[in-house]
Amino acid sequence: MLSLGIDTSCDDTSIAVVRNSHEVLSNIIASQHSLHEDFGGVVPELSSRQHIEELIPTLNRALKEAKISLEDLDIIGVTLGPGLIGSLLIGIQAAKALSLALKKPLITVNHVQAHLYAAVMSAPQNASLFPALGIVLSGGHSFIAKMQSPLDFKLLGTTIDDAIGECFDKVAKILELGYPGGPALEKLAAKGDKKAFALKAGRVKNKALHFSFSGLKTAVLYQAKGKASNLRSPLIIGDAEKADLAASFQEVAFRDVIKKIHLACKEEQPKSLLFGGGVTCSQTFQKMLFEENLLPAYFPEKMLCLDNGAMIAGLATELYKSGKKSDLAEKAFTRMESLKRLQEEKA
Ligand code: KG4
Ligand code: ZN
Repeated sequence: MLSLGIDTSCDDTSIAVVRNSHEVLSNIIASQHSLHEDFGGVVPELSSRQHIEELIPTLNRALKEAKISLEDLDIIGVTLGPGLIGSLLIGIQAAKALSLALKKPLITVNHVQAHLYAAVMSAPQNASLFPALGIVLSGGHSFIAKMQSPLDFKLLGTTIDDAIGECFDKVAKILELGYPGGPALEKLAAKGDKKAFALKAGRVKNKALHFSFSGLKTAVLYQAKGKASNLRSPLIIGDAEKADLAASFQEVAFRDVIKKIHLACKEEQPKSLLFGGGVTCSQTFQKMLFEENLLPAYFPEKMLCLDNGAMIAGLATELYKSGKKSDLAEKAFTRMESLKRLQEEKA
C-alpha cells in the first residue's frame, strides 16, 4: 500500500511517500525558516503564499525520490489541523484535488496524533508498545495521553496555558536568542549552571498531570529584565547570567514534565513511552529522561521529529486500514478542537 502524506500546517511544505505505513520512500521538506527569520516568528500570510509556490515542486520531488508516479498511489493523506488556517488550506485543497482527479481515497489526519505516530514508525516493528503513554511536547501542544493503539487516546493531562515549546520560544525571545527559540536556548543552557536561579513550574490544583508554564515564563522575564518589565525592556543581566537563566529554566521545565510522566506511569502502568513534537528533539530532555530509567521510550527518528509528510502518510494508512474514509467537504480545524478530535478518533 502506497500512501502520500501532505503537511502544510505551519512553515514547512512537507510531502512524503510511505509504503505499508512505516517504510519511508521519500520525505521532502521545503523549509521556510529563512523567510520568517527576520520577523522572529512565522508570518502566516507569507507562509501560505510560500506553500503555494512550493507545493507542486515538492510533490514532484517526493514522487521522483520514491520512484513512483501519481497513479501508483493508493491513498492521499493530508493534515486537516491543527495549524495556521491559510497554510493548512493549501495542503488540504491540493489533497482534495489529487483525490478527486486520481479517484483515490482521501484520508485526513490530525497533525498532533501524527507526531506520536512518528514514534511508532521509528520503534522496532516487533516491539510491544501498547498500552502506551503518548507524550507530545511541541510549539502548540503539551499533553500526556494513554494510548491503547496508535488510534485510541485518552487524555490524562494537558497545559492550561502556554504549550511548552511556546514557552521555550518566548523565553528565548526574552533572552534575545534567535528563532526558533528551543534549539538556541538549549545551546546557551549548555554553558550555564542549572541551579543558579530558583524557578518553579506551575501547579494545577487537583489536576496532578496538567501543566502550567506561563508563570515560569514570567519569572524568567522578571529575572532577565527586572520586576514589572515587559518583552521590550532591556536585559539587566550579563552573558554568564543569561546562560545560567537558560539552564535553570530548561531544567525546571523538563523536570516538571518528567515528574508527570513518573506519576502517569504509576497510575496507568503502560508498556512504553511514545514521544512526539519538536521539544522532544532536545538532547538535554532525552538525556534527563534516560537517566530516570523509565520504561522503553521511543522517540521519532531525526527526519520524523519535526513537521514532516511521512508521519502523515503513515498515520493515514493506519486510519484507512481501520475503515476511515474522509469526505471532500471536510474543513480544517483549530488547535482548540484537536484534543477533542484526538479522543474521538478510535479504531
Ligand atoms: O513539533 P514542532 O516542529 O511544531 C509544532 O507542531 O509545534 O515543534 C516546534 C517547537 C518550537 O517551539 C521549538 O522551539 C521547539 O519545538 N524545539 C525545542 C528544541 N527544538 C525544537 N524546544 C526545546 N529544546 C529544543 N532543542
Ligand atoms: Zn508539528
